Amino acid sequence: MKKIELYEVGPRDGFQMVDEYIPLETKTRIVEGLLEAGLRHVQITSFVSPKAIPQMRDAGELAAQVVGKYPDADLFALVPNLRGAEAAWEAGLRSVSYVVSLSESHNKANIRRTHEESFAGLHAILDAFPEMDICLDLSTTFGCPFEGMKSEDDVVPFLEPYVGLGVETVNLCDTIGIANPAQVRRIIEAVWTAYPALDLQVHIHDTRNMGMVNTLAAIELGVDKVQSTLGGLGGCPFAPGASGNLATEDLAFMLSEMGYEVGIDFDRMVELARWQAAAIPTGLFSGHQFRIPVTN
Ligand code: COA
Ligand code: ZN
Repeated sequence: MKKIELYEVGPRDGFQMVDEYIPLETKTRIVEGLLEAGLRHVQITSFVSPKAIPQMRDAGELAAQVVGKYPDADLFALVPNLRGAEAAWEAGLRSVSYVVSLSESHNKANIRRTHEESFAGLHAILDAFPEMDICLDLSTTFGCPFEGMKSEDDVVPFLEPYVGLGVETVNLCDTIGIANPAQVRRIIEAVWTAYPALDLQVHIHDTRNMGMVNTLAAIELGVDKVQSTLGGLGGCPFAPGASGNLATEDLAFMLSEMGYEVGIDFDRMVELARWQAAAIPTGLFSGHQFRIPVTN
């Protein structure tokens, strides 16, 4: 049975979209619930400026609640810069997602950095933390709210210096949920042709109900690490129109019905998704809200 590793990113991608502060206790309960339902990879938070995302201001406190308690788990966090990586390291995390957008306009809107500055930022993290496990989160891989659609001709050359720098894992993110399966196949095939050793993940938003087909397209090409969020919560506050992610419980259901091994307790996940929806009413199922026009 082929194993697919589920990377749960709801406590970061989902919670960052909720305006009202979610109490630390609620966040902790959800992270622990995810781990207890069998998830091994959980992005618990992000170490970002509290001015940019006030919801994440308790990142260090949340890490203190769970790091060490689940020694077998791969707990990781999103960071936009060296400062974030330092805070993650201090909090006991050894794995981070470094976010850069393929589209420079989204990079500027999201993290206020040019491509050059973002590249230098990763260089600095690699120098400072050679033992940190770093995944390059390539935001807007498939399309951008400001620049329109993206293709393999954008992605492959963009990655070249990063691969040269030693990046081994890249997470292809459909930040606004604009991808289609044919494009997913083209981009993954082209990336693997250019960089056969690269470990790829996908992170697909479900704006147009295509999260499942796009994720499956990636899996059928050989991608075995996929991101999703409990209850489908998710989005980027700096990408107009970005809405929910593919729901982890739905993805897990489909994959296990298809004969893949996902290693989670489906009933516990559904129960947790229900509990989350009641505990975080403002963020309830942010998916499927938008049908945004994105032009070429
Ligand atoms: N964690 C906490 N605080 C941070 C930080 C980090 N990783 N990086 C910077 N800061 C603080 C600085 O100390 C400074 O604080 P001060 O105003 O109290 O002195 C403030 O944030 C601004 O710092 P600066 O380096 O000038 O950053 P900026 O204003 O150019 O913003 C980012 C750049 C990257 C810090 C900010 O845009 C950000 O955190 N973006 C994250 C966006 C995000 O999470 N998007 C969704 C996920 S894809
Ligand atoms: Zn996302």
